[in-house]
Amino acid sequence: MITQKNLSMKLDDIFNRLWIDYTNQNPSALKVYELFTNAGEKVENDHIAFRTFDDQRVNINVLSRIFIENGYVEKGEYFFKDKHLYAKHFEHISDKNMPRVFISELITKDFSPFIQQTVKDLLDEPASVKYNSDDLIFSGNIWGKPDYETYLKLRDESEYAAWVYVYGFRANHFTVSINSLKKYNTIEKVNHVIKDNGFLLNSSGGEIKGTKEELLQQSSTMANHINVEFNDKVYSIPGCYYEFAQRFTDTSGELYSGFIAKSADKIFESTNYYKK
Ligand code: NI
Repeated sequence: MITQKNLSMKLDDIFNRLWIDYTNQNPSALKVYELFTNAGEKVENDHIAFRTFDDQRVNINVLSRIFIENGYVEKGEYFFKDKHLYAKHFEHISDKNMPRVFISELITKDFSPFIQQTVKDLLDEPASVKYNSDDLIFSGNIWGKPDYETYLKLRDESEYAAWVYVYGFRANHFTVSINSLKKYNTIEKVNHVIKDNGFLLNSSGGEIKGTKEELLQQSSTMANHINVEFNDKVYSIPGCYYEFAQRFTDTSGELYSGFIAKSADKIFESTNYYKK
């Protein structure tokens, strides 16, 4: 029999592995984390997010399976009309210390034949890859060195598609739960210390997304540039970002646990290309 304790141990392994990959690839994410831990804070994750395509081999249902099998349940769904994305969020059925998991997918049929064909070709390609493997969420780019022209062409239509093309399956971001912080206990204080230390905040739609009335306020860094090996040479392009979330209680005293599509829509832009 699988006990509750064994389940959370497995989940800890999953989140640790995602965290190690994320910080190895994005050293600035570790620096952000250390800003808080060096100040004596204990950092907890509000949520961890993944991106994918809506193809039935790798869609939300496929990526969420490892979490469902470890005690997570589906909680909310979200529509992003302008970006042609769909998302769901999942929570652990009983352990409130476990982070939420947010998974989005690109609605490929809304895009050009070029995007649809590129995604199909990508997914058809690695014959050795088992999309139903438990390792899928850790597998990153399983398609080999990306082609720079293809990357640029994808980016013209969808920054999101270009990001998944280059980075594949991995944590797109971790999110500091501001509710768990003591000294930096408001989003304003968090944004202040982030900027003071030279990190760039995503200012699309304002640095703070959402209001206290909406019960969720979020901000995020712009993804740091990292060197990525394309098929011709190395290019410096945005990788992953770090997010910050502060949640508020509703009139019944219950802490809001969902997401606000209008805010998340702007947070997606944290991986948009920008000149360094
Ligand atoms: Ni997020």
